[in-house]
Amino acid sequence: MFAIVIIVVLFFSAFSVQLPWSITSTCREPSSLITFDDIKNINASGIPIPNGYGGLNWGNGMALNGLNSSSGTGYTTGVVSPPNLAYDTFGNDIVITNATTKTFTINSFYSCAVWYDNITLEMTGTREGTTLYTKSVQLFMQNTTFIELNWSDIDTINLNSVCFWCCGAKHFTMDNLCVTL
Ligand SMILES: *[C@@H]1O[C@H](CO)[C@@H](O)[C@H](O)[C@H]1NC(C)=O
Ligand SMILES: *[C@@H]1O[C@H](CO)[C@@H](O)[C@H](O)[C@H]1NC(C)=O
Ligand SMILES: *[C@@H]1O[C@H](CO)[C@@H](O)[C@H](O)[C@H]1NC(C)=O
Ligand SMILES: *[C@@H]1O[C@H](CO)[C@@H](O)[C@H](O)[C@H]1NC(C)=O
Ligand SMILES: *[C@@H]1O[C@H](CO)[C@@H](O)[C@H](O)[C@H]1NC(C)=O
Ligand SMILES: *[C@@H]1O[C@H](CO)[C@@H](O)[C@H](O)[C@H]1NC(C)=O
Repeated sequence: MFAIVIIVVLFFSAFSVQLPWSITSTCREPSSLITFDDIKNINASGIPIPNGYGGLNWGNGMALNGLNSSSGTGYTTGVVSPPNLAYDTFGNDIVITNATTKTFTINSFYSCAVWYDNITLEMTGTREGTTLYTKSVQLFMQNTTFIELNWSDIDTINLNSVCFWCCGAKHFTMDNLCVTL
């Protein structure tokens, strides 16, 4: 048993990707990967994701070093590519809009609830104010949910977490976002 563990550790360290088997860190062509890891000078509470990052504008998205955060919270569980991820500032909606192209496609991302289990993440994709797509998923602290949308030709995605027993601590995380611009 011990030998197996060592072999598995060696196997993973050879690839420098520390992920469970079910999680992939690439996007399908022609989608590109946004990991938040190249955002620099992040302090302990995180900094606003700059507009234009990844070719998109970011309303209310914070970039945080998840590996430096309290273990046992979604901030650490939610890290897919170390060390950074995004979260919703003050638990308010993240609104991602087009910045360099007229529209974009949201393919997928990984998400966790930060402080409480089974919060609901409500997502809406719109173009020129018309709602084209909606979806809700449940999120948890100790496991990461892969959310695959494939929402094409939108100019806005709104991500709103809902939790009536969280007293406002309804934060969620986002990592390894796949988008096509
Ligand atoms: C993360 O923790 C390391 C080691 O404690 C520290 O050097 C680094 O400044 C921290 N980074 C952030 C963004 O808090
Ligand atoms: C982190 O940086 C942000 C943006 O510059 C700032 O608003 C916030 O006060 C800083 N937090 C800490 C703990 O320094
Ligand atoms: C972003 O979308 C809006 C609304 O569809 C559009 O008016 C604007 O021109 C787009 N921005 C770019 C850079 O194409
Ligand atoms: C999550 O909450 C929903 C109701 O919102 C419930 O149906 C479901 O059983 C809960 N799941 C878990 C794992 O607690
Ligand atoms: C995720 O965590 C929740 C709460 O602990 C649990 O109910 C659920 O079964 C877990 N889901 C998976 C896929 O492990
Ligand atoms: C998203 O697109 C991929 C590639 O075409 C496909 O394999 C996958 O099933 C799609 N998923 C959803 C939820 O539409």
